[in-house]
Amino acid sequence: MTTPLQGVRVLVTGGSRGIGRAISLALAAAGAKVVFGYYGDDEAAAATLKALRMHDASAFAVEADVSQEAQVVAMAGQAIEGLGGLDVVVNNAGILHEAGLLETSADAFDAVTGVNLRGTFLVGREAIRHMTRHGGGRVINIASDLGYLGRARNSAYCASKAGIGALTRTWAREFAPHILVNAVAPGPVDTDMLGADVMSEAQREKESDIPLGRIGRPEEVAAMVRFLAGPEATFITGQTYGVNGGSSMI
Ligand SMILES: NC(=O)c1ccc[n+]([C@@H]2O[C@H](COP(=O)([O-])OP(=O)(O)OC[C@H]3O[C@@H](n4cnc5c(N)ncnc54)[C@H](O)[C@@H]3O)[C@@H](O)[C@H]2O)c1
Repeated sequence: MTTPLQGVRVLVTGGSRGIGRAISLALAAAGAKVVFGYYGDDEAAAATLKALRMHDASAFAVEADVSQEAQVVAMAGQAIEGLGGLDVVVNNAGILHEAGLLETSADAFDAVTGVNLRGTFLVGREAIRHMTRHGGGRVINIASDLGYLGRARNSAYCASKAGIGALTRTWAREFAPHILVNAVAPGPVDTDMLGADVMSEAQREKESDIPLGRIGRPEEVAAMVRFLAGPEATFITGQTYGVNGGSSMI
């Protein structure tokens, strides 16, 4: 097995399950030293940590709500101390709340944008604070194709994901050339987030429009993140890459 990320120090948020779990495992399998954050799902976090330690015995996890500034500062500090530095941060933690605009309370809007957008801002800021003092790094934000497509009954989610694209381009300009900042925008991917409780039957049916004829697997998103974190992605910044089976083509 090749290990193009040998010794690269990585923090992945939302690493306990789904896409973040696949990213953590893919990066560790490529030789990276991985710390992941999670919130509230201890069992999944323990299972992922066990799998991660097959690649990297020193891997560890930190529970922190990414919408809370003090918790993010503490998580970033623990990750940087435990890893001995930080080369790559993957802002993956996210939540989805499906409701029509007229049924969306201000609190629900704040909860979704708080995790997805404010969380990306807070974690990105702490990572970049460290990277600017230590020679640079990579920031990889997980957006969504819904950030540019929009979707009925997903105001907060779509707005938060569009905002992540804007943060990506802003940071890419502000911190060039030493910090490369990119985003990955998945289409529908087979995780808990797409469970029946958050996505209506009608919307699931629409997924059959995907040219490649299926929804994605978390590992397919992780492969793009691994590339963007790796030694070949040296002339790429400010970009958002779709991993979506052709569900949107821009
Ligand atoms: N699954 C999809 O179809 C899809 C499509 C496009 C984009 N995405 C994005 O990919 C990312 C991962 O999604 P997923 O499908 O794996 O979701 P998931 O629900 O399976 O996992 C979410 C992860 O985020 C963490 N998390 C939730 N709230 C948190 C908080 N307040 N603080 C810190 N961590 C928190 C959870 O612990 C978990 O590890 C999200 O940003 C999501 O918006 C997913």
